[in-house]
Amino acid sequence: KNVPTSFPKDFLWGGATAANQIEGAWNIDGKGLTTAEVVKKAENHHTLTMNDVTKKSLQEAIDDKTDVNYPKRRGVDFYHHYKEDIAMLAEMGFKAFRLSIAWARIFPKGDETQPNEKGLEFYDRVFEECHKHGIEPVVTISHYEMPLNLTLKQNGWASRETISEFTKYTRVLFNRYKEIVKYWMTFNEINAIQGGFTGTGALDSQLSVSEKAQVRFQALHHQFVASALAVEQCHKIDPQAKIGCMLARMQTYAKTSDPKDVRAAQFQDQLNLFYTDVQVRGEYPEYMNRYFKENNVELKMVEGDEAILKQGKVDYLAFSYYMSNVTSAKQDVEKFSDTFIAGESNPYLETSDWGWQIDPVGLRVSLNEFWDRYRVPLFVVENGLGAVDELTHDGKVHDQYRIDYLRKHVIQMKEAIKDGVDLIGYTTWGPIDLISASTSEMSKRYGFIYVDQDDSGNGSLKRIRKDSFFWYKQVIASNGDKL
Ligand code: BG6
Repeated sequence: KNVPTSFPKDFLWGGATAANQIEGAWNIDGKGLTTAEVVKKAENHHTLTMNDVTKKSLQEAIDDKTDVNYPKRRGVDFYHHYKEDIAMLAEMGFKAFRLSIAWARIFPKGDETQPNEKGLEFYDRVFEECHKHGIEPVVTISHYEMPLNLTLKQNGWASRETISEFTKYTRVLFNRYKEIVKYWMTFNEINAIQGGFTGTGALDSQLSVSEKAQVRFQALHHQFVASALAVEQCHKIDPQAKIGCMLARMQTYAKTSDPKDVRAAQFQDQLNLFYTDVQVRGEYPEYMNRYFKENNVELKMVEGDEAILKQGKVDYLAFSYYMSNVTSAKQDVEKFSDTFIAGESNPYLETSDWGWQIDPVGLRVSLNEFWDRYRVPLFVVENGLGAVDELTHDGKVHDQYRIDYLRKHVIQMKEAIKDGVDLIGYTTWGPIDLISASTSEMSKRYGFIYVDQDDSGNGSLKRIRKDSFFWYKQVIASNGDKL
């Protein structure tokens, strides 16, 4: 077999976003309130997520009809700027644009029988605009949010009933966007349930850590089943379309060559690969049995669930990659922990301003590991550097640090392709500045395009091309040769 020397001709270069971080228009055209929109903005780079929402803060959020303290309600107003934004992505030569659909635009409360036509029409227009520019939409069905009503009514994914609400929603999407959307993904970073990010929609902040483990893994099981059912639906309704899973890859290394550290790191890695083991191979891996038992997690499965998982194996594996971690035996990885990004520091790596350890070579390591393990096409659907950018008085942003970060990762992807890995695309996170998922800050920017808005929501929303815009344009034009 010929050894590839670079990116394939039809490589999907582009960028990735999520509805609750970009769209705004939170209460327009019939949209319902979502779980992302009740999470308050954090201060000083701290993380605030659904994990921190209490009954009291939830009620305050519901009573508050403004977006002042809830930046995900305003995003960067993509809802009204999508034409201009997509045109700018096209100017960079984008082949693919990853975005998510806000479930609560389609089913505002989640439990209606009929979808909200106005919500569907918005995505009709967005996809049309993408195709006009020759850009392939890559669509996440659920990105860290759901109709808040499903949390209030049945504690989100903790309830099995949510599976049928979800399959009702996905059926509408596959029928409506048949032959329009060719790449789907079910749940964004499905493994973030571990850190209680915003994925499960279950209110569990006041539970003990071990009670959390029970709620989250049960909720996860419901998501696995729902995802597998969606894969089956998609294959039936639109056999040409491809549907994948999405994992937050947490590459980890043993702190030393002490076999105890190596074993801890091995298990930490398995804990990360558990999710793709289920979604790509179609069954729970044995190593989780012991973990569940020792953490007193009892999964309730219904007859037929195992067959559903087998039947609903994904077509490709998509993942986000920002950093790597270090594991030592000290960490007691066999015990459930509700912090997502744990681990120790790596003396060989630099960190971002938010403490994320930057590791381009780790991307090559992960790509090889995925390919060896699964033999399905891989798609890097998030990667990037969150940084504070400075707008100069002449309206420029000199973000050389971002160019350096991305360049190093592109080089490692190319190496992985030469290693024989089947990599189909690369969509960098937040090609246009948007609201941070973990902190709701605007000042944690990832984009090639600067958006004039501050953490409090002040600004003209004007879009400005950063230096990295022109760099990425040339990368795409040369199919990854000019870096
Ligand atoms: C991923 C998420 O975790 O990382 C995105 O899928 C998120 O939604 C991105 O925005 C970067 O994280 P943050 O917290 O810097 O926005």
